[in-house]
Amino acid sequence: PDPRVARTPPMGWNSWNSFGCGIDERLIRDTADHLVSSGMRDAGYRYLVVDDCWFDPRRDAGGELRADPVRFPSGMRALADYVHSRGLEFGLYEVPTDRTCAQRSGTYPGATGSRGHEEQDARTFADWGVDYLKYDWCSPEGTLDEQIDAFSTMRNALRATGRPIVFSINPNSDHAAKTGATHDWTGIAHQWRTTDDIKPVWHTDGADEMGVVDVVDVNRKAARRAGPGHWHDPDMLEVGVHDVDGFRGLNGSEARAHLSTWAVMAAPLLAGNNVTTMPAEVRDALTNPEVIAVDQDPAGIEGTPVRATGDQQVWAKPMADGSRVVALFNRGDRPATIRTTAGEAGLPRASACTVRDLWAHATTTTSGDIAAVVPAHGVALLRVSAR
Ligand code: DGJ
Repeated sequence: PDPRVARTPPMGWNSWNSFGCGIDERLIRDTADHLVSSGMRDAGYRYLVVDDCWFDPRRDAGGELRADPVRFPSGMRALADYVHSRGLEFGLYEVPTDRTCAQRSGTYPGATGSRGHEEQDARTFADWGVDYLKYDWCSPEGTLDEQIDAFSTMRNALRATGRPIVFSINPNSDHAAKTGATHDWTGIAHQWRTTDDIKPVWHTDGADEMGVVDVVDVNRKAARRAGPGHWHDPDMLEVGVHDVDGFRGLNGSEARAHLSTWAVMAAPLLAGNNVTTMPAEVRDALTNPEVIAVDQDPAGIEGTPVRATGDQQVWAKPMADGSRVVALFNRGDRPATIRTTAGEAGLPRASACTVRDLWAHATTTTSGDIAAVVPAHGVALLRVSAR
């Protein structure tokens, strides 16, 4: 994939989690305006990505993709121009198979996948001004070799256009093998999904519907291969997403824990909420600069759990400046005091430390334990530096 982009985990917004197929050009333009006026763009959320269901169900006589003429009457080039005029980057969705997930499931008509049209579609995307392609497997069929082949074909086609385009893949979609969690996709894509689709809920017992902690558990078991230009993607953010598929949404503590764990895992941050109606507390959580700095650290190291005791986990992420970000992660239903030490977090043992609480925006010092009372379904996110 193009070495000029995705040096830190890509950040932006994607239409799927809140809107599914219910998208049109007015929503996307309004979203662009609100990404700017809310401060989301300036906080780093630069890629505005239109997911499944944007296209006409049929290609034209020359085999070209077209925007759906009813919901996107101005066309995708005009929409990309609008998004660019707001200082944002533009993203679109396609699949390496014959039908998108919505087409397979019958919620959307047609069969407009890129299979057999890769070079043509990559040229179309570059021509329209696309800066980010989400490429979603959407089929139970296909061996790992066939997946590698299909994803590499589009990578090469994008490269041939000469345009820097972030290449985001989901090898898991509808596929039992979940190769996103097992295979190293470095060199093929800038980011690859490691799990099934996330839902706006803390935890579920179902196999197909995953909450925040379920996704964390799968993503952390994926071999750690994240780094500049190649990122594990534990799926998009559910912060501020409500009433989807029967799930009511995350509370404030759960939302902060979701953002904190994604930042510690160096995950792409694609907001999925309706930013045109976003309450101030959701905006403030999404744009917390100290948390975003953890995610966007130039070293790009994926944090890992250094201790787990029942529902309580201690995670540590080494930062480029030598500090450690510690997440005291309470997965349980009651508040808990969680403790760690400088040594456990990877700093010299028994050092005197400065501890910055990245949600409370407060600094303390300690030469003993690092501890916090963490709410139920919550995280204390601390940046710890030896003094
Ligand atoms: C499955 C993906 O995992 C989702 O994020 C979304 O892109 C849908 N497909 C669209 O059909």
